[in-house]
Amino acid sequence: MRALMGKLLAVATALGAVLIMSTRAYANLEATCMAASAKDTRFNYSFCVKALSAAAQTGNGARELAKATAEMGAKLAAATEAKARARLEDPRTERKAYDPYQTCYYIYQRASNLFLFAEHLIDKNAYADAKSAARDVPSAVGDCDRYFHEAGLGAPFLEQSAKCEQLGIICGAITDLL
Ligand SMILES: *[C@@H]1O[C@H](CO)[C@@H](O)[C@H](O)[C@H]1NC(C)=O
Repeated sequence: MRALMGKLLAVATALGAVLIMSTRAYANLEATCMAASAKDTRFNYSFCVKALSAAAQTGNGARELAKATAEMGAKLAAATEAKARARLEDPRTERKAYDPYQTCYYIYQRASNLFLFAEHLIDKNAYADAKSAARDVPSAVGDCDRYFHEAGLGAPFLEQSAKCEQLGIICGAITDLL
């Protein structure tokens, strides 16, 4: 009986520790997003908490959160680049959509590289340069939507551009805290 109680106690203690750690990670995430939100008027606080909650489970600080944001942005931009390429290779793609897709392919390739570069620069403690790389993302991805509109077409990557834009803004703003 005593052995069982001891085991139960150990389990309860472990659970308690996990709970405290994850609560702390979350509090840290909210505090970081809150502090960073003051750095940029375009910053979306709820997007920051939502997007980074997966990365925050490890209880990371601002530096790790900035890197996680850059990594997330790089992945999303690379996936969008691949989608644009798939449309270029698809014979059903409208003729007049071809140029915008081609341009967007390069735009998302550049956005992906900017995010990867920002992550690399944070690793090297080159925060000012990392911030400027991340902050170049929003205007780059905005151009993609504009090319489609100018061709009289609906922009196919609106969701991706909104997310990449926010990830660039958030990465730049968190890096600004470092
Ligand atoms: C901010 O992000 C939330 C969560 O992703 C989203 O629902 C909301 O529309 C965004 N707000 C603005 C102003 O973009």
